[in-house]
Amino acid sequence: MSTNLFDLTGKVALVTGASRGIGEHIAKLLAENGAHVIVSSRKIDGCQAVVDQIIAAGGSAQAIACHIGEMEQIESIFKQISTEHGKLDILVNNAAANPYFGHVLDTDLLAFQKTVDVNIRGYFFMSTIGAKLMKENGGGAIVNVASINGIIPGDYQGIYSITKAAVISMTKTFAKECAQFNIRVNALLPGGTDTKFASTLVNNPKILEQLMHHVPMKRVAQPEEMAGTVLYLVSNASSYTTGTAINVDGGYLIG
Ligand SMILES: NC(=O)c1ccc[n+]([C@@H]2O[C@H](COP(=O)([O-])OP(=O)(O)OC[C@H]3O[C@@H](n4cnc5c(N)ncnc54)[C@H](OP(=O)(O)O)[C@@H]3O)[C@@H](O)[C@H]2O)c1
Repeated sequence: MSTNLFDLTGKVALVTGASRGIGEHIAKLLAENGAHVIVSSRKIDGCQAVVDQIIAAGGSAQAIACHIGEMEQIESIFKQISTEHGKLDILVNNAAANPYFGHVLDTDLLAFQKTVDVNIRGYFFMSTIGAKLMKENGGGAIVNVASINGIIPGDYQGIYSITKAAVISMTKTFAKECAQFNIRVNALLPGGTDTKFASTLVNNPKILEQLMHHVPMKRVAQPEEMAGTVLYLVSNASSYTTGTAINVDGGYLIG
């Protein structure tokens, strides 16, 4: 056994939403630490570009497209992983949707449905099917990327915040019921991070200034600053940790 607590040699890891942003950096760090990483998102081209970079750096990876709001695509990605690898050790549920910014009273059904389908149904069935595959092979680790908005709702991000609170609850439920299968389940709660997802926030000086009043570190995060916590949560370094949610938020949730 390796003395490096973060060593992922021989592990097969699936990272959703890994074509850019936080997911891209998680995929690269897991590969750097020895995992074979399945880089996934809706569009294969972006995933392949990340895979090419991982391979050029000496790592192992492959791209598989999967829209996590589509049940058939969820089933299909796990079928392919099972056929090609016969196992899954690590699942990082990172891809999410936030299509609506506005007053909660004006949320329309389409935005509601899309947010719930991706952020709750997607995370849920990725976890049930992924955990069954892990169970067959003696265990594994799941990390759900939630958000600080799951604790304190973001202004005008109602339905998104509600789904992120559900992801924190989902993390605890799966942790409780899957510990018997040697599967650990934890959540990462990012604060404001400089990605395409948060561009309305990061590129709007007024909104950014308001947010910075509440962030003791007085800056947003770079996406690579999220990856170390995920590596910790999927590796032996956190072997007795399950059901927890780690804030990586520059101190925002201190309040
Ligand atoms: N950035 C922040 O400030 C912040 C703060 C708190 C939490 N988070 C959370 O962090 C996670 C990653 O966000 P990010 O900021 O890195 O976003 P990002 O840079 O916009 O990346 C989103 C990734 O998800 C993929 N994606 C989007 N919808 C998908 C779907 N339905 N199925 C599969 N893949 C999908 C995108 O690729 P395709 O377009 O190819 O699908 C892309 O790879 C999300 O869960 C988000 O809620 C972010």
